[in-house]
Amino acid sequence: MALLTPSATKLVTSGLSSKLAAPIRPSAPSRALHLPRATQEASSVTGLVFDPANAVKNELTTVDKTPPSQSLGRAAFDPECEAAINEQINVEYNVSYVYHALHCFFDRDNVGLPGFAKFFKDASDEERDHAHLLMSYQNKRGGRVQLKSIVMPEMEFNHAEKGEALFSMELALSLEKLNFQKLRELHEVADKCGDAPMADFIEGDLLADQVDSVKSAAEMVSQLRRVGKGLGVFLMDKQLQEAQ
Ligand SMILES: [Fe+2]
Ligand SMILES: [Fe+2]
Repeated sequence: MALLTPSATKLVTSGLSSKLAAPIRPSAPSRALHLPRATQEASSVTGLVFDPANAVKNELTTVDKTPPSQSLGRAAFDPECEAAINEQINVEYNVSYVYHALHCFFDRDNVGLPGFAKFFKDASDEERDHAHLLMSYQNKRGGRVQLKSIVMPEMEFNHAEKGEALFSMELALSLEKLNFQKLRELHEVADKCGDAPMADFIEGDLLADQVDSVKSAAEMVSQLRRVGKGLGVFLMDKQLQEAQ
């Protein structure tokens, strides 16, 4: 804000501030008023003179008519984007549920692989965090979160030929690749609707991490293929117990 000169301060304190002190503040609209008429007309045509009071009129009417049951902040958010985010929340919860089942399996006393149990618990929490991230973004954009049913997962992960660790990690890799595909589809919806902030959110907060998750699951599958079903799995479990 501009500093008041001693004479202007006098006007303010004498109760004439609203009428007389105003001209001492330089502002864009007041400068626009001094443009020659021809320039003003040309500017209106090219849109160079922005008149916020006029431009906001329509939005003000919309805000005024918004009932308390609806979002006030919703702006340029397509219902298709809203529905696609709800779908992805469900995908993340389903994947989280399968990882939780894997955690319980490896935590059993007759399986006894606490490192794998921890790995899958962390993976389950991570997917749940992704669901939470999407829920919070949905609310931020003025959409409405719709939670859907979660499918009951398998609880047995034995595999005579591969062993339970490799079998489970191949399942994890497939889930991560499926999730990657789902995120790309979500990004396509944002793109189709011309929703730049949503596309940016998916790229920055979800897609980049998903690429890392696919890579690390693929590496684990490769390592488990090398080590076999016995001592190798036991040593990998030790490694996973110590991992952060
Ligand atoms: Fe995820
Ligand atoms: Fe993941």
